[in-house]
Amino acid sequence: MGSGIAEVCARAGYVTIVREIEDALLAKGRGRIEKSMATAVERGKLADAERASALGRLSGTTKLEDLAQCDLVIEAATENPEIKRRTFAELDQVCPPHTILASNTSSIPIIQMATSTKRPDKVLGMHFMNPVPVMRLIEYVRTLTTSDETLETARTFGESLGKRIIVSKDRAGFIVNFLLIPYLTEAVRMLEQGFASKEDIDVGMMLGTSYPMGPFTLLDYVGLDTTLYIADILFDEFKESRFAAPTLLRQMVAAGYLGRKTGRGFYDYSAGEQPPSAR
Ligand code: 3HC
Repeated sequence: MGSGIAEVCARAGYVTIVREIEDALLAKGRGRIEKSMATAVERGKLADAERASALGRLSGTTKLEDLAQCDLVIEAATENPEIKRRTFAELDQVCPPHTILASNTSSIPIIQMATSTKRPDKVLGMHFMNPVPVMRLIEYVRTLTTSDETLETARTFGESLGKRIIVSKDRAGFIVNFLLIPYLTEAVRMLEQGFASKEDIDVGMMLGTSYPMGPFTLLDYVGLDTTLYIADILFDEFKESRFAAPTLLRQMVAAGYLGRKTGRGFYDYSAGEQPPSAR
């Protein structure tokens, strides 16, 4: 997600600094951005000259202090509340008072990060969708303490990236995952109960409702671990059975079948299996 966010910022004309925890991860992210920009050029979404200037606006560092000149920082660290709270407390020390601090978390309440700083009025959620360069939405999360001015400045920024902005209150799942996660886990339950095959469920949702991917293809794309993590957060917050993660999902995560990133999820990509196409 971090490389996608950095890419769209640089492509929109912003001087963009990526902070990673080690050089190897910086190089990996830069490689991902270069590949994505090459695809964008191939597809006619980005002029070749514009690619060079966008890459010129991007730099990397492992030092948080190098963000001291930034007007906006978007945190996309691992979904660990403690790491996020610590990062926000450090950013609060490093950045000037006007800097807006945003989190790309998909599930952790933003107020936890806001209250780790002395500027809770300047903290909000900016939840991007995967793949960031292609998906047109950013879901903003406003806490009890986010000011109108912060929301409006962030809105102007998000729109300048070419994205549509929606605003949610600070509640687990926000808008998109509150609806998406029960849909995905219900598909897993359907498969678990032997009600239909994964291929038929995927084709059903693609051809029956024009979703670009069926639920199992999307689960493999988003990551089974990420989906389970968000389902558990939703269940913890609301204690409703519709948010309870199915046993099959939990066992697949335990087995390391996390989706495309490990070569196997509901489909076994390492064995050459591919999800059904909508065509
Ligand atoms: N930069 C800019 N544009 C790009 C690009 C890039 N790097 N790569 C591709 N594109 C453009 C293509 O040119 C094409 O544009 P067009 O429609 O105008 O021709 C469009 O993006 C689609 O690209 P492709 O033809 O290569 O790919 P597909 O048509 O196979 O679509 C997909 C791929 C966009 C991933 C589509 O399958 C999709 O939308 N899937 C669902 C994704 C989804 O639901 N994401 C949200 C997940 S939930 C989430 O992120 C929240 C988290 O908290 C869990």
